Amino acid sequence: MKTLLIAYASFTGGTRQMAEAAAEGAREEGGVAVRLLPAPQATPEDLLAADGFVFATPEMLGSMAGLMKDLFDRCYYPLLERLQGRPYAALVCAGSDGQGAARQLERIATGWRLKAVAPPFIACVHAQTPDAIQAPKQLASADLDACRELGAALAAGLALGVF
Ligand SMILES: Cc1cc2nc3c(=O)[nH]c(=O)nc-3n(C[C@H](O)[C@H](O)[C@H](O)COP(=O)(O)O)c2cc1C
Repeated sequence: MKTLLIAYASFTGGTRQMAEAAAEGAREEGGVAVRLLPAPQATPEDLLAADGFVFATPEMLGSMAGLMKDLFDRCYYPLLERLQGRPYAALVCAGSDGQGAARQLERIATGWRLKAVAPPFIACVHAQTPDAIQAPKQLASADLDACRELGAALAAGLALGVF
């Protein structure tokens, strides 16, 4: 059975909800093993053992979160030229923008020659004041539905071997 690895970082819960929704969609679709891992726990071996990926990160200071960047810092060269063609989706949780983090994820995935199954999906939580940014997040159900659908699409494609 193929494996879908969902790696995420989250501080106030928004990205975690996106990653969990993607995992739920993939599990409901069935036909693949789904691993949901906080980015600091994911190793090069975990990535190498996976057939497809979801990378889910908050945008922070115009970039992906440091915890997610750390995953790529640790894994990029050990896995260079070993993941070609594997499918992935990028999820970004943002207070107001998200484009910077999405671009970074795309560039790294391009370096690994991964295949995007969809454009990066950005959920905006509309948090711009210090209080709003530090508050726990509850994502809109439409955003969670989109993440669920992406997870299901990745699972279906992996199970059918269409990627
Ligand atoms: C230090 C810091 C920097 C941030 N910078 C950005 C930013 O550059 N662009 C943006 O859209 N949101 C920014 N945000 C808002 C977060 O993306 C938002 O709070 C999001 O919900 C964080 O994801 P999480 O709930 O999974 O922790 C920032 C938040 C923090 C704490």
